[in-house]
Amino acid sequence: MNKVSVSSPSNIALIKYWGMSDAQRTLPNNASLSMTLNQCVSYCTLTPQTSGTCDELLWKTASGSLLPVQGSMRLGIEQHLQQLRQHFDDWQPLRIATVNSFPTGAGIASSASGFSALALAFALRCGQSLNSPDLSQLARLSGSGSAARSVIGGFVQWPGHHGQPGGPAKQFAPAQHWPLHDLIAVVDAGHKNISSRQGHHLAASSPFYSTRLRLLPERLDSLREAILNRDFNTLADTVEREAVEMHMIAMTSQPPIFYWQPATLQILERVRQLRHEGLQVCATVDAGPNVHVLCTPQDASAIVTALRTLPGVEQWIFDQAGDGPRQLEHHLF
Ligand code: DP6
Repeated sequence: MNKVSVSSPSNIALIKYWGMSDAQRTLPNNASLSMTLNQCVSYCTLTPQTSGTCDELLWKTASGSLLPVQGSMRLGIEQHLQQLRQHFDDWQPLRIATVNSFPTGAGIASSASGFSALALAFALRCGQSLNSPDLSQLARLSGSGSAARSVIGGFVQWPGHHGQPGGPAKQFAPAQHWPLHDLIAVVDAGHKNISSRQGHHLAASSPFYSTRLRLLPERLDSLREAILNRDFNTLADTVEREAVEMHMIAMTSQPPIFYWQPATLQILERVRQLRHEGLQVCATVDAGPNVHVLCTPQDASAIVTALRTLPGVEQWIFDQAGDGPRQLEHHLF
């Protein structure tokens, strides 16, 4: 295939992947569960180089120009490309452009969408389809475990039910089953200082980590049931407990990691108040300060009105459960 373009979404973890057993192969210590998003997506266009022997890695700016990708982002893409090439035994130099529809590196899983988009584009070029069971593994080769979940729409578990740590992610309910909204409060759109990867390495240094691993399987099963039954109260209780616990592990690691900012806590408090007032709303936070406020479609506008006046939010992004990656006719160059 000559020129391939895809969009691949971010996802929000409801049961968090935190800690890995094998950094080389990105094998998680625990199964995680996520909701694939709809609006927060990475676009990627890939084509064989017509001249030259090197890859050209480009970033599309808001003004539409294409700039070379630099620094750690470049390194991450090159390493992922190397793995994809080995997998497919395809060594053709490529021209690749990418862009995100949302702030990068700010706890909205831009690596999940970005690396899954790259894996998908590469796989399509090599003749695979968007339904190929290999895609989750190919996305995971990037080192971003959450990318393994982004190749699938709706509600996703990685590894799939009863799966081995190296197994693929699996959908257990489509987005239409429960089209929850995700109102994302961007408290700080800058790059986070401590990567998730560092967090995974430090997790086991928390004295509470082994307790977390023991409690997680039952929590995950209960959340799956809650989603399948559209039981918002159980979802809210489980998702918030889980988010606080993951951050508690981070905060009690040696050295400790603090992702939250004062505004993060204020939003979490306000969300709990709104729930006590009767609205179907709860919140979770990935490895950053930004808050994902989850709610049912019918309560979304009341919640937006109540939260919009909160101080400390740089930007609101309105998203919801989505169907997953798409192949596009429209290219970035
Ligand atoms: C807290 O190693 O997948 O978001 O690649 O940096 O996005 P990035 O992170 P990754 O770890 C994800 C950590 C998490 C929880 C989760 O998404 O499961």
